[in-house]
Amino acid sequence: MKILLINGSPKGKASNSLRLANAFVEGFCAETEKTGAVVIEELDLASLKITPCKGCFFCWKNTPGECCIKDDMRMIIEKELEADLIVWSFPLYYFSVPGMLKNMIDRQLPMNLPFMSRDDSGYGSGSHDARYDMSGKKHVLISTCGFYSSEGNYDSVTKMFDHFLGRGGYETIFCGQGELFRVKELASRTDVYLSYVRDAGCEYAHGGISDETVGRLSTLLYPREVFEEMADASWGVSRESGEKETEDQSFTKQMAALYNKGAYDGKDRVLEMHYSDLDKTYQIFLGKDGSKVYTDKSLTSTTRIDTPFEVWRAISRGEINGAEALGRHMYTVTGDFSLMINWDRFFGTVDPGKEQKSSGSDGNEELKKPVMTTMLIPWITFWIAIPFGRNTGALITLAVCAFIPLIMRKHRFVIWDRLSIAAVALLSVAVSLTENGTLLSCAGYLIFGLMWLVSCLVKEPLCSTYVKYNYGGDAAYKNPLFMKTNYILAACWGVLYVLTTFWTWFLRSSGMELWVQIVNYVVPALMGMFTVWFEKWYPAYLAGGKGRRVKGDTE
Ligand SMILES: Cc1cc2nc3c(=O)[nH]c(=O)nc-3n(C[C@H](O)[C@H](O)[C@H](O)COP(=O)(O)O)c2cc1C
Repeated sequence: MKILLINGSPKGKASNSLRLANAFVEGFCAETEKTGAVVIEELDLASLKITPCKGCFFCWKNTPGECCIKDDMRMIIEKELEADLIVWSFPLYYFSVPGMLKNMIDRQLPMNLPFMSRDDSGYGSGSHDARYDMSGKKHVLISTCGFYSSEGNYDSVTKMFDHFLGRGGYETIFCGQGELFRVKELASRTDVYLSYVRDAGCEYAHGGISDETVGRLSTLLYPREVFEEMADASWGVSRESGEKETEDQSFTKQMAALYNKGAYDGKDRVLEMHYSDLDKTYQIFLGKDGSKVYTDKSLTSTTRIDTPFEVWRAISRGEINGAEALGRHMYTVTGDFSLMINWDRFFGTVDPGKEQKSSGSDGNEELKKPVMTTMLIPWITFWIAIPFGRNTGALITLAVCAFIPLIMRKHRFVIWDRLSIAAVALLSVAVSLTENGTLLSCAGYLIFGLMWLVSCLVKEPLCSTYVKYNYGGDAAYKNPLFMKTNYILAACWGVLYVLTTFWTWFLRSSGMELWVQIVNYVVPALMGMFTVWFEKWYPAYLAGGKGRRVKGDTE
């Protein structure tokens, strides 16, 4: 299998379209190589000599099939004839192909016979048959354009290719917002798109691109207004005054353009960015209708970020993990910390294609998230049911344990869930076989408390196993604020339940059952309230630069 990749962008290797074409070829090869060898040849038209066609028809009259111009086009035609698959990669220029590629297409004249043909894909336009047998060749057109969508922009391109490759004789991947593929700050979104292009390559190797992938590929990278605001800001020239803007100003405007007004929760916010190295302050108003950047400091900030510009830029590009950098005091946050906690919701990327994928695969274990309720249900049932009767309580608890996989089937089970079900089931059996309900329910508190404490010794404290999904999944492990908060909370819950063991034992032995009930409901409820407060307060406290170690905290 020979693949010819024709790069028709004047930008050569820096072409946005080429990134997509490479992803497609990568996917195609991954599948094709399973059954045989694949040879890829890339022709970078920008680095080749292709003189414009002279229109002399020498290749038809004098030297049939051979052009009178001696340049790289001869070699290109040879490669085209040898290839099984030709991938045409090019940008959209003035609603058509770049001149350089048009030159190359014109110079394909020797590949056609001079005689008139009726085979014109039903256009009634007239045509020329191919000089060579091109019937087995496949063609894929991959192109990016600068407008927000490819829709309505490629009419001239498809008409031209219809005429020379035959209507429906090729596959297409056309993508709007093409310039975003070179923006490192947006790689989290564009990489997802590239993965869909790769999928398209794999599927094409098996016959054709699926409707699902076509749907994902036609989804806009960003909504029109977000993209257009970002694009306008990216030129570094003020739309209003036409004056050149500084890098930090243009950067801040692009960041503001990424604001997702769908995340608006009824509360206007003002994000104040202070670039400490430049001593520049920008205020970004985040409201229900969108965002606006102010430079006159006229607003009252709700969240303030103090950061060197380069640090913030490196975070945006994904070169530094933002949460980790915050934990290392490379920048500070003061004011309303909820903006930081929900940063991805306000400024992140929602990829509709990805959402489609996850919602459609209900049975996929990896996509199910664990919830703490799974772990709590057996314990709570045990502590409530046992005091009501040894055998009945044990029976109810065992039944609940048996049905948990069914009740919580929409969630993934983690080690703490499994340990809890096993421990509670064993304790229930022990309760029904022995007389000692008090001892065993105290043993339950002790096991429960130890589970929390032991989890403080491993890389993932118990609570973080469940809540990390709200903080980017496993990426949350790199977030020192998240980890510190969770270790402290896990330790607090552990200590509480170890202590509960002792006071329950003491109160029950002293016949104060009512007090056991009161204390064991009230104290966890208070601890729950503390948890809700602490998990917001503590990260904000650390982010504001409090608790900062003086030496070595940025190493
Ligand atoms: C001369 C020129 C003409 C362009 N014409 C269009 C156009 O008609 N429609 C469009 O959406 N984008 C247009 N663009 C934007 C490019 O298609 C866009 O930047 C593309 O992503 C570049 O791809 P490349 O990096 O593969 O060369 C034009 C760009 C240039 C330089």
